[in-house]
Amino acid sequence: MDNSIILVTGSNTGLGLEIVRALFRSLKAYTVLLGSRSEANAKSVVHQLQAEFPNSETIVSSVQVDLEDDESIQKAFNYVSRRFGRVDQGWPKATGSITAYRASKTGMNMMMRGWTRILKHDGVKTFCVSPGFLATGLGGNQERNREMGAIDPAIGAEFIREVVEGFRDKDEGMVVRRDGIQPW
Ligand SMILES: NC(=O)c1ccc[n+]([C@@H]2O[C@H](COP(=O)([O-])OP(=O)(O)OC[C@H]3O[C@@H](n4cnc5c(N)ncnc54)[C@H](OP(=O)(O)O)[C@@H]3O)[C@@H](O)[C@H]2O)c1
Repeated sequence: MDNSIILVTGSNTGLGLEIVRALFRSLKAYTVLLGSRSEANAKSVVHQLQAEFPNSETIVSSVQVDLEDDESIQKAFNYVSRRFGRVDQGWPKATGSITAYRASKTGMNMMMRGWTRILKHDGVKTFCVSPGFLATGLGGNQERNREMGAIDPAIGAEFIREVVEGFRDKDEGMVVRRDGIQPW
């Protein structure tokens, strides 16, 4: 399989789903692994995307994965190894409660810095991407997010596609924003 293989977890809804849509809109063809906690949801979204982009050369396939469940992660790893043999890029898009959320984002920045150091000699590029405040179901109320100024998640997803396609490679190891780099 020559296409880049991209795993997007938490992608049956919200920003994850918009990232998959942005990949479908790309001029490049990808193999997208659409990760979801629910296999049924993932399959239904795969059918929806195939109907939405009938002429695309991008291929989408569902993968059941719950990032809080080690067994589920191991099963997803085994499945992807067996069926595809590799993953070129991974985009974890799961979320949590507000205090845990803030702490987790700070922790994630540090994890990204650690991965950058550990993986750089393996040719792996690591980023955190801050796509702006997006009108998804984050926090439980998409409409309220919109009233508070959240923008269309497709805008954030297009930005993430640019990072996927190498336009921000010079900012590897940083938290990248559309308007630059996030200061620490
Ligand atoms: N919205 C924003 O403004 C914004 C901005 C920057 C970054 N982000 C980040 O983007 C990510 C997704 O946010 P969102 O705005 O798309 O929120 P969302 O609409 O609430 O979607 C969250 C997604 O995460 C999945 N998920 C939750 N727990 C999971 C787990 N344990 N394992 C696997 N998937 C899990 C959910 O799956 P289910 O459907 O199964 O519940 C859902 O698909 C978050 O990390 C958030 O911090 C969002």
